[in-house]
Amino acid sequence: MKKICVIGSLNIDLVVKVDNMPKKGQTLIGSDFNEVPGGKGANQAVAMARLGGAVNMIGKVGADGFGVRLMEQLKNNNVNTNYISVEECATGVAMITVDKNADNSIVVAPGANFKVDKEYIDKSIEAINCSDIIVLQLETPLETIKYALKKSKELGKYTILNPAPAVKLEDELIANVDLLTPNETELEILSGVEIKSDEDIEKAAKTMIEKGVKELIVTLGSKGSLYINKDRSIFKKSYKVNAVDTTAAGDSYTGALAVAFAENKSIEEAMDFASRVGALTVMKEGAQSSLPTLEDVLKFEV
Ligand code: RIB
Repeated sequence: MKKICVIGSLNIDLVVKVDNMPKKGQTLIGSDFNEVPGGKGANQAVAMARLGGAVNMIGKVGADGFGVRLMEQLKNNNVNTNYISVEECATGVAMITVDKNADNSIVVAPGANFKVDKEYIDKSIEAINCSDIIVLQLETPLETIKYALKKSKELGKYTILNPAPAVKLEDELIANVDLLTPNETELEILSGVEIKSDEDIEKAAKTMIEKGVKELIVTLGSKGSLYINKDRSIFKKSYKVNAVDTTAAGDSYTGALAVAFAENKSIEEAMDFASRVGALTVMKEGAQSSLPTLEDVLKFEV
């Protein structure tokens, strides 16, 4: 099986449930406060490992209790932590509210995640070198992501970018992405194409292909997902489940895709596997607390 390297963020999520999202200037009484291991990078790494992937992670935590907890969580899930360093600063933290519709809003204080710099990529180059698939998100500095993508392509690796949280990206960065996995909102921000219809999604995806992305899988929430490359597109309906918290659904979806590609599955098989994993994720609360194992996926009845 091919090896995967995740370059990305590690956060502790401070989660509160609310009926409805607070309005500007409003104080709300919520419920069920929880501290959960999270961070898009770590969520993807743990998702992959629970699904049977062989995973190295490159990232940073702070020298505090949150950092210790995140390292333990990765180790307990068989993610290689040799390339995660401990810095003299705070660990990344995410403030999350989840409403009664299972939607969330997230604010991240990056802490140690923003200390992942080009020098650290060079120092950790062995983790990239010994892997086949390199997976990144956008919760570490953009200059570092651009550099890591370039290095990965120079080493002949297959690169996956989950562009969350979305910002406009330089063409030079985009050109080194093999697979992009945005949701509709992220695709709109990246492409500059306003998305109001299915045709707009195809148009926005084609814009990214013109910039050098080889293929895209656009996640469409409860509707499904859409694969697009320069020659063809494939739509996959999502599995209907009772969602309680959508946090980390995009992370588990991208993680599952990477594992499926590591096992040389076809695009159709990979999308089906990732849809099952995404569906299972939204049925449980929290980020890493909601990520299914391979056994859960095999037992999933639709
Ligand atoms: O995608 C969900 C994740 O986004 C959370 O775990 C939070 O830490 C933020 O990074």
